Amino acid sequence: MTEKSIQSPTSHLQPSITACTTLVGVIGWPVEHSLSPAMHNAAFVALGLDWAYVPLPVYPDHLGEAVRGLRALGFAGANVTVPHKQAVLAHLDDISQAAQVIGAVNTIAVRDGLLYGDNTDATGFLASLHDVGFDPAGTYCAVLGAGGAARAVAHALAEAGARQVRIYNRTLARARDLCREMAKFHGDVRFESGSPDDLAAIGDDTDLLVNTTSVGMWPDTEVSPWPRDLPIPGQLTVCDLVYNPPETLFLSQARVVGAETVGGLGMLVHQGAVAFELWTGRPAPLAIMRAACLEALQGQDAPYRPRRQV
Ligand code: ATR
Repeated sequence: MTEKSIQSPTSHLQPSITACTTLVGVIGWPVEHSLSPAMHNAAFVALGLDWAYVPLPVYPDHLGEAVRGLRALGFAGANVTVPHKQAVLAHLDDISQAAQVIGAVNTIAVRDGLLYGDNTDATGFLASLHDVGFDPAGTYCAVLGAGGAARAVAHALAEAGARQVRIYNRTLARARDLCREMAKFHGDVRFESGSPDDLAAIGDDTDLLVNTTSVGMWPDTEVSPWPRDLPIPGQLTVCDLVYNPPETLFLSQARVVGAETVGGLGMLVHQGAVAFELWTGRPAPLAIMRAACLEALQGQDAPYRPRRQV
């Protein structure tokens, strides 16, 4: 069976846990609807690894104890999700450069008893662009939103050699702040800010348009961060970090003008794959991880579905 040919259900890919099993998990509040346990457990079983991935609901007041507990309990690492991605930095021994610039950790690896924090969102985002053949080097990029997700995306694009990153946000001051912050780390990239009223100026000079806002996420699927009466330039590659629904209204606005579209599931799977490789040292089985995410998403009660990475 080749990895690419995987179509069959992955829900049977559940690890059996013994005292020898290596544990990893996801720390968040809440975490019960995270797709990561299904994604990683399917990968462990597919590669025959005696590993298991568990949801770890941690109330904010207990974050420090929980993170120190990873070491005490012999965990190999963990993912970190909302609302702990920023607060966790204070509890780690070492932090990657990406996590420092983004100001958030989504992956911890326990190495020689030390807690190492990394951020795989930026790498995961770039890998999802790579899947459609988009290379940000030398490009002009537009980012919608100026929150934590925008920060990871702006850093990723700058790291990958983008020439210009324009950040458009409803609250203009946040876009300005993010540009100022990013410019400190990436002096060779031009960062500019704008408000949604400036979107009409996006023209032939732009290569990539990324939605990092929550606009269009299920159940509010009838709204888009892009104005209805403004055609999206067709030469763009258009990416939405939202993965539920798989095709947002924003992506359908892009598809009808012939733009290349990139949904949010790719980033979810790739950020998981980078974490998997950090922990296990093995190449991640991407097709299995993607199939497991899709299956878990379809199997969940609709009101509780997770909708966006970062
Ligand atoms: P995250 O860390 O997940 O990115 P966040 O920091 O709350 O979340 O940022 C959410 C982003 O989506 C912000 O840019 C927010 O705009 P504001 O800074 O103006 O709040 C944007 N956003 C959320 N809801 C929006 C809406 N209905 N219309 C436009 N922008 C919205």
